[in-house]
Amino acid sequence: MTINEIRSKYLKFFEQKGHTIIPSASLVPQNDPTTLFTGSGMQPMIPYLLGERHPLGTRITDSQKSFREVDIDEVGDNRHTTFFEMLGNWSLGDYFKREQIPWMFEFLTQELGIDPQNLYVTVFAGEPSIGVPQDDESIDIWKEMFASVGIDAEFVSIGSEADGYRLGMRGGRIFAYDVSKNWWSRAGKPANMPVGEPGGPDSEMFYDFGTPHDPKYGAQCHPNCDCGRFMEIGNNVFMEFIKRESGFEKLAQRNVDFGGGLERLAAAAQGNPDVFVAVDALSEIVTLLEHFSGKEYNDSRYQKSFRVIADHMRAATMMLGDGVRPSNTERGYVLRRLIRRAAQHAQKLGIPQDQNEESMLNRCAILIIEKYKQAYPELASEEAYELITSEIWKEEKQFGKALEVGMREFEKIAATGHIEASEAFTLFTTYGFPFEMTLELARERNIDVDTDGFEREMKKHRDLSRAGSEQKFKGGLADTSEKTTRLHTAHHLLLKALQTVLGPEVHQRGSNITQERLRIDFSYGSKLTKEQIAEVEKIVNEKIKEELPVTRSTLPKEEAEKLGAEHEFGAKYPDMVSVYSIGPKEATSEDPEFSSAFSIEFCGGPHVQNTKELAGVFKIQKEEAVASGIRRIKAVLL
Ligand code: ALA
Repeated sequence: MTINEIRSKYLKFFEQKGHTIIPSASLVPQNDPTTLFTGSGMQPMIPYLLGERHPLGTRITDSQKSFREVDIDEVGDNRHTTFFEMLGNWSLGDYFKREQIPWMFEFLTQELGIDPQNLYVTVFAGEPSIGVPQDDESIDIWKEMFASVGIDAEFVSIGSEADGYRLGMRGGRIFAYDVSKNWWSRAGKPANMPVGEPGGPDSEMFYDFGTPHDPKYGAQCHPNCDCGRFMEIGNNVFMEFIKRESGFEKLAQRNVDFGGGLERLAAAAQGNPDVFVAVDALSEIVTLLEHFSGKEYNDSRYQKSFRVIADHMRAATMMLGDGVRPSNTERGYVLRRLIRRAAQHAQKLGIPQDQNEESMLNRCAILIIEKYKQAYPELASEEAYELITSEIWKEEKQFGKALEVGMREFEKIAATGHIEASEAFTLFTTYGFPFEMTLELARERNIDVDTDGFEREMKKHRDLSRAGSEQKFKGGLADTSEKTTRLHTAHHLLLKALQTVLGPEVHQRGSNITQERLRIDFSYGSKLTKEQIAEVEKIVNEKIKEELPVTRSTLPKEEAEKLGAEHEFGAKYPDMVSVYSIGPKEATSEDPEFSSAFSIEFCGGPHVQNTKELAGVFKIQKEEAVASGIRRIKAVLL
């Protein structure tokens, strides 16, 4: 079964059970400042789990693109991937355990054809301190399910993970674990949850590959053991609690949040624990790499490199498709790291650095685009294809250069017989030479590197660059020519006009101003109609005609936020911020009237002093999609 088949089967199965299929949200979270990337299917669902009405009803299903950065260093074994697809189904105050568990059992055993003998499940053992008892209802339902296929499912109470390694299987099929394993919230166990966070007991399903236990992990094997015998293939969260100041309370509605990794379901369906073999999108990259490198995947010297390249190039392609670009900060830095690590491992496989855009990494990306474009249409356009492949090539080229120069510098330093933390750090910051590479080359030459010292330098660097971005904010844009200044003010008018016409949930995602035109990328789900475009233009042109003063004020950050000043999502601002407001007519910088201003934005400027200086007609030249949920407008002042 290919992943496209499993994904379709799952969505169709839940559609038949009354669910509406929704498209995946972007990997770039739209309303969740808690993470850089969407890491599970439920993240975009939070408001609805808390009680907001979902426009498409109380039964929703999807396949959500997910990325977990913490797993970057774990990639290399047979199951960890940074990017994965999470199949999800939700009951928003609709059905509960009685429906969810039998449906899951049916899906796994009948749709995917998994032998129920290989299925094991876990449930919540209860936690007196928060007043939530053992999940007896789920235990009973699971017993019925197994009984229906002739399996007498024994219940075993375990407790903590450590207890699991001590107690072992004891003939059980249904196991109860404590809050550390069978309670789910975005923040983890109850004690870690902030007030207002929803969560609840969960019931997880495991596939038994039947491999022998490896005592390296603990004395006895149990479903949550990490030795590789068991793989978690899905999690039914019974999300019916919310944390309050005073403790846990039931939510007004009982929700189900199911999430199952598509890759792992594929592995279970095929009885093969290696997702780089069981998942066609990954195994095809492996085959491609074998062909070009002449190395074999099963050769233990190279297996990790095969896996890293396949995983990283899939994640990088998906990120690029969602509008992330390589850079030195935040998401862009994660993307840069993925591409560069993949390039490094391609070298390890002996694949020479390519001389043109038809690079090995781009071949991997194209394979991924082809595999996934049906499920994720944002990858399907020619524009996306061009953009993804050109960004990867650009990054490869830059990295190639960095390595060449960095290598020469490294040799100079290594010739002295030792490498100081500060030197490794300079190699990284000045030459873009990865620390991992320094470590590896140093090891080959039997030279020690001060890893802790390097980490300390990195931390200092991060703190400094944070201060630097505040500086950048204060200092304003570099290009202060009159034309760009006019367009910059027009940009503020445009954003406010878009919010007026399309709704307050429109926010800026990116922007670029040249002397000729402005460009804004903003969050919005669909193409603008002709009427909407005309209305936006009309508003901006009216504000130009109204000759509104543009006022700069410096305020404490909290105060600016309270005024509802538009700010860049996720950006870090200093305590005192510069704010530009446009209008009202009689405002002066000594006496800005924020309450009746047309637009207020966190901004370093520069701007014109009055909208009349825009002296022209504002015109939208192009409106198009750049990524899922992100539109782009190019506009000019004629
Ligand atoms: N939200 C649950 C998870 O991510 C299903 O495991």
